[in-house]
Amino acid sequence: MQEIYKKQIADYQEKIKNTLHSFTKEKEFYKKEVMQAMEYSLLSSGKRIRPILAIEFCKMCGGDYRNYYYIVCCIELIHCFSLIHDDLPCMDDDDYRRGMPSCHKKFGEAEALLAGDALNTLPFEIITNACKTGKITAETAVKLIGEISNAAGINGMIGGQAFDMYSVKMKHFNAQNLNLLQELKTCRLLEASCVIGCILADADDKTTEYAREFGKRLGYAFQIVDDILDVEGSFDTLGKPIGSDEEKGKITYVTMIGIDQAKEAARHQTLEALNLLEKFDNNELLSDLTMDLLNRKK
Ligand code: IPE
Ligand code: IPE
Ligand code: MG
Ligand code: MG
Ligand code: MG
Repeated sequence: MQEIYKKQIADYQEKIKNTLHSFTKEKEFYKKEVMQAMEYSLLSSGKRIRPILAIEFCKMCGGDYRNYYYIVCCIELIHCFSLIHDDLPCMDDDDYRRGMPSCHKKFGEAEALLAGDALNTLPFEIITNACKTGKITAETAVKLIGEISNAAGINGMIGGQAFDMYSVKMKHFNAQNLNLLQELKTCRLLEASCVIGCILADADDKTTEYAREFGKRLGYAFQIVDDILDVEGSFDTLGKPIGSDEEKGKITYVTMIGIDQAKEAARHQTLEALNLLEKFDNNELLSDLTMDLLNRKK
């Protein structure tokens, strides 16, 4: 299984990268620099977890994901936007991402800002065009746009990033606050990734809610592991700075409950996620991926 699993993930990653590349092919002179900044971030070596989740949920719900690479990649566009802005000097001020200088280090702050903005809006153009050309129905388009905008915006990831900034100013920041912060900044996009797959496969509401709950549990585990790696990881493997959270005085699972309990919490959320996957047939690849994400080093 392990070999088939690795090959399948690598195959997805390659197709996702090619699709992302197709979004930035034409670069007219006046927007060339911003488009190069977009491309630089899109084509760097991300794990591509979010589009892979969308593909697998589409598949498990009986949809033909092969027609929808450009749609599942929309969630990676939003994710890359969030990373570019997250690294800016006015936010986490991190100089490296995916083993390379951060977007603003390479292209300048204004270009990075606009590249992020462009990546944040492109998905809605792509989905609307898919509807106009008859590749998806208007109903599917509205569902996708609703899901992605809600997960990305002020009620989702951006709201979480706002909370992340505000948290360092709070006198009493408790575990409940931390859960909400992580749910917004990280879980929402992972939930939406799973739900997009369900929408593309026209899955029923109950199935879609199981997928959403899985995304949430996976999201909690994912961010807790991210916080642990910020302390225990290695820069060479992780490709981004270690100790960034401590430097900014961020409260994470590690500072709140200690590293051992944080590891236990990540394991607990992973087991919850695996239980939810049992509701789906052909869940082998996602089960393996869920376990791998718990034990990841990058
Ligand atoms: C990093 O996400 C940001 C978080 C939500 C913790 P990933 O760990 O998925 O980043 P890439 O895409 O693999 O670089
Ligand atoms: C940010 O969390 C999550 C996003 C919405 C980008 P972090 O700030 O911990 O992510 P990394 O560690 O820089 O990838
Ligand atoms: Mg951050
Ligand atoms: Mg950061
Ligand atoms: Mg982090």
